[in-house]
Amino acid sequence: MSDPASSDANHTTSIADDALVLFMPSGRRGNFPVGTPVLDAARSLGVYIESVCGGRGICGRCQVTVAEGQFAKHGITSSADHLAAFTDTEARYRSKRSLADDRRLSCSAKVTGDIVIDIPQDVQMQRQVVRKRAEYKRIDRDPAIRLHFVQVEEPDMEQPLGDLDRLLTALKTEWHLEHLQIETWLYPKVQSILRKGKWEVTAAVHTADGISTLIGLWPGFHDKFYGVAFDIGSTTIACHLSDMMSGRTIASSGTSNPQIRFGEDLMSRVSFVMMNPGGEEQLTKSVRDAIRSLIEKVCSEAGIDRHAILDSVFVGNPVMHHLFLGIDPTELGGAPFALAVSGALDFPARDLELDLHPGARTYILPCIAGHVGADAAAATLAEAPHKEEEYTLLVDVGTNAEIVLGNKDRIVAASSPTGPAFEGAEISCGQRAAPGAIERVRIDPETLETRIKVVGVDEWSDDPGFAEQIEAVGVTGVCGSGIIEVLGEMFLAGLIDEDGVVQGAMAEKSDRVIADGRTFSYILWRGAVELKITQTDVRSIQLAKAALYAGVKLLMDKLEISEIRKVKLAGAFGSYIDPKYAILIGLIPDCDLSKVSGVGNAAGTGARMALLNRVHRTEIETLVRRIEKIETALEPKFQEHFVNAMAFPNKVDAFPNLSEKVRLPERKQGSSGSENSSGGRRRRRSRS
Ligand code: FES
Repeated sequence: MSDPASSDANHTTSIADDALVLFMPSGRRGNFPVGTPVLDAARSLGVYIESVCGGRGICGRCQVTVAEGQFAKHGITSSADHLAAFTDTEARYRSKRSLADDRRLSCSAKVTGDIVIDIPQDVQMQRQVVRKRAEYKRIDRDPAIRLHFVQVEEPDMEQPLGDLDRLLTALKTEWHLEHLQIETWLYPKVQSILRKGKWEVTAAVHTADGISTLIGLWPGFHDKFYGVAFDIGSTTIACHLSDMMSGRTIASSGTSNPQIRFGEDLMSRVSFVMMNPGGEEQLTKSVRDAIRSLIEKVCSEAGIDRHAILDSVFVGNPVMHHLFLGIDPTELGGAPFALAVSGALDFPARDLELDLHPGARTYILPCIAGHVGADAAAATLAEAPHKEEEYTLLVDVGTNAEIVLGNKDRIVAASSPTGPAFEGAEISCGQRAAPGAIERVRIDPETLETRIKVVGVDEWSDDPGFAEQIEAVGVTGVCGSGIIEVLGEMFLAGLIDEDGVVQGAMAEKSDRVIADGRTFSYILWRGAVELKITQTDVRSIQLAKAALYAGVKLLMDKLEISEIRKVKLAGAFGSYIDPKYAILIGLIPDCDLSKVSGVGNAAGTGARMALLNRVHRTEIETLVRRIEKIETALEPKFQEHFVNAMAFPNKVDAFPNLSEKVRLPERKQGSSGSENSSGGRRRRRSRS
C-alpha cells in the first residue's frame, strides 16, 4: 500500500495489480493490491469503519456504498463493478437482516479496480441533533471503547489453558489485542459467559494511552452500547445520551444544579465549604445524585437500561469539576487558585458511584486554569479557534465568563467574574429566560415608548394579537438578552448617558422616567406587574460587562492585537443575545457584526465530541498544554481596562463597525482620559 500522505491529487494512475481506493468523506486514498477487502484498505488509511464481528458478516456495521462516475480530480473512474461479486456472506446477511441494494459489507467486498467508497452517514458519522439548532454538529466517530466478537476454543484436557486465557488468545489472534488488561470483576464471570455463548462472546475493550483493557463481556453477538456526556454548570446540568454504535444522540435532558441551595454562585459554594468543614461531601453528593437522576431520565426516555452505558464524559468549570470528583474546592477560592488536578482523567465510572455498567469508564476533560475549566476546554474543542486563520474570540457567558482568544498560531485564555447579572440575578426585574420574560426591547427615541417581545409569544407588543397571546403567559420580568437590549436602547435614546446615569431630565419628556429616591428609573412595562430599570440595575450590568470586556482586552494585550475578527458567544445566553446590542453596551469589543454568532452549548458539544471520538481527547489534551493562561486578578492593567469598560460602549475604544450600523450618541466632552491599548488617544467615532 502507498503511504496515504504521499497520495495526492496528482496521482492519476494505478500501478499494475493495484487499485486506487479513495474514501469519502475523509478524502483519504491509497493503492492496494487487487483482492484487498475494502475494510482492510480503510484500516490501513486510518479511516474508521466499525466492525464488531471481525468480518464474519454478522454485525453489518461495516456497510459502505460505491460512488459511481468520473472523479477527474482524483483520476478515478469509479464503478460498483470495481468490487468483486456479491459474496455468500453478504447474501446471508441480506437474507437475515437488511442490506440495501446499493450497500456492500466492506469486510467481504474486495477491490478489483479504482474505486471511490462512500461511508454512509449512518455508519461513519451522525448528524448530532440536540435541542438547539446552533448545536447541530457532525462528529466523526472513533470511540475509546470498541466491541469485538470472538470465537474461543473449547477447553481441552491436553492443553489446560484457562477459559480467560483462551479468550485472551482469541482476542489477540483475531483482533491483534496484545497485552490486554482485565478488570478483576470479570474473573468470576468469564466461565459462565463463555458457556452461555457456546464459546462465542463479544468483548468490550477500552483503549487509552496505548493500554487496552477488557471492560465488558457478553455471551454471543452483542452490538449495542451507550455513552453519556455531561456539562455540569453552576446553574444547570445538561446530559446527552448517545448510541455509541451510530453516534446518534438519542436523548437529552437537563436539570437545575441542586448545589444552588448551598450558594447561588461559585464563590458562595466555595465559602460554604470553607465555613462548614466536610461541606464538600454534601455538595458532591447533591451533584452526583442529580447526575444519577438525569441518567435515569434519559435512559427511560430512550427505553434503554442504564447498565448498557459503557462510557461517560464530564465537563464543568473548576469548582464544579472538583466538587463532582469529591475534591475540596477551597484552594480555588483565592490566589494562586491552585487546581488539585488539571489534566484529563480517565478511570472506572464505578469510582463515582454512577450505577452504570460495572466496567463503564469516565473521561474528564482537562481544566485550562484555576478559573478556566474543563467546560471551556470542551467549548474550545467544539469551536476550534485554534484552527482559525483569524483571531477568534470564544466567550462563554455565565456567572464567570470564560474567555478564549486565538488562532492557529497562538491561543490565550482567562476568566472574568461577571457575576449572575446576565442570568437575571441582581436585576430588580430580572428573571431567567422562561415564558413571560421580556427578551427583546425597542425604545422610540422621540416618544421614549417601548415595544417588547416576550419569551413564549411570537408577536411584538404592538402587533395585533399580542394582548390575547400575552394573557396566557403574562409579562413577568426581563431575561439576560432583554436586559442587554433595554440598556442598549436606553443608551441610544439618551435615557442613560455613557457613564450609565439614568437621565432625570428625561422625566419632562416621558412619564416613564420617574424619580426613585435619589436616582431615576425607567418604566419598561406597565401591566399586572410594573417592570422598571433602576439605576442599580444599570450599575450591575455595567460591572458585569466591564469585567468581561476587561478580560478580553487583557487577552488582546497578550497577543498584541487591536481587533478581533470573529466572535463566538457560547452558552444559552450567547445563543439569544443580539450581537449588535452586545457590542453596543460594550460587552465585547467592536467587530464586524456578521462575524459574531451564538454557538449554543459549545461545552456540551465538546463533551459529546470527546465521548464519540478518542482523537478529540488527545486533541484537547495537547491543545490545553499549549494555551497560555492569564489570571485577570493579577494583571495590573485589568483595573484600567475595567474602568474604561464601565462606560457605554467604552471610554476609550473605537467602535467603527458598530458605528456603521447604529447612530451612537455624542460622547461627553473630555470624557476620555486614558490611552487605549494601541497607545493612541481614543478616536471619535466616524458617524456618531
Ligand atoms: S465486520 Fe461485521 S459484517 Fe462486516
